[in-house]
Amino acid sequence: MTTASSYVFPHRHLLGIEGLSPSEITGLLDLSETYVEQNRQVDKKQSLLRGRTQINLFFESSTRTRTSFELAGKRLGADVINMSVAVSAIKKGETLIDTAMTLNAMHPDVLVVRHPDSGAVNLLAQKVGCAVINAGDGCHEHPTQALLDALTIRRRKGRIARLTVAICGDILHSRVARSNIHLLNAMGARVRLIAPPTLLPDSAERLGVEVFHDMRKGLEDCDIVMMLRLQTERMQGSFVPSVREYFHFYGLDADKLSAAKPDALVMHPGPMNRGVEIDSELADDIDRSLIREQVEMGVAVRMACLDILTQQFANTVGG
Ligand code: NCD
Repeated sequence: MTTASSYVFPHRHLLGIEGLSPSEITGLLDLSETYVEQNRQVDKKQSLLRGRTQINLFFESSTRTRTSFELAGKRLGADVINMSVAVSAIKKGETLIDTAMTLNAMHPDVLVVRHPDSGAVNLLAQKVGCAVINAGDGCHEHPTQALLDALTIRRRKGRIARLTVAICGDILHSRVARSNIHLLNAMGARVRLIAPPTLLPDSAERLGVEVFHDMRKGLEDCDIVMMLRLQTERMQGSFVPSVREYFHFYGLDADKLSAAKPDALVMHPGPMNRGVEIDSELADDIDRSLIREQVEMGVAVRMACLDILTQQFANTVGG
């Protein structure tokens, strides 16, 4: 089992899955496993990050990502500060950099940042002297979500390579989909995207995936089915005729799932819109749904990310 001291992660920040090698991904997942065990003990706290400061800077709303980053930092013994910035208060560009410089002056060791604009977290990372973790930037990447999804799959299926994984729904606006496509491709899975043409990026095929517009055809022989929320806050105009019609064609229910392998498992990053992209009963079916396990894995994966990024560059503040 990988431990904090033996695993070397050669990056200053975690801004995306794109560019990570399969062995770097595997190293992160192996380290996360040790934290899954720690989180199941009565005493969940250790002092690895004692004296370190973690600032969670969220320019966009979040429930599970922010909470699990907070819990992850606290379980490792860090001092954790949460800053929620109302979207309406942001003047893009200058204000973001100003905020970064202000926080930088307080000598944090790690910044966890969520921002509605793709690329904003990368920009911020260039301006500060500490490690930066991308907790979701616009429609670009959400690396810790893809890692927790991968850990959930690997624990249930024993591997990621050669599995067929369908990602279904609003791919166009989804940073979760983008990070998962990079990770699953890197780890040798077969990736399918299932969505109406209006909810797919123009260049979808160039991402190294198979594209389907029909749920039953796309789900045939799949091992994993990942459902995505309709991200209406990122939509300008209407992308689907009606929610009812969307559920009829693209909502996952037991009937459509029967096209997949008999032991296919269902995932969802949350927040879930029951009756829109997923049938409520199926979401709660403990034999088919991994949704609660994904949340558990989220804390462990974020502990692993905080661990590797704060240990290596511990003495390079300002660098
Ligand atoms: C996702 C996100 O914010 O990108 N949620 C999450 O982090 N668990 C997906 C979504 O908002 O639909």
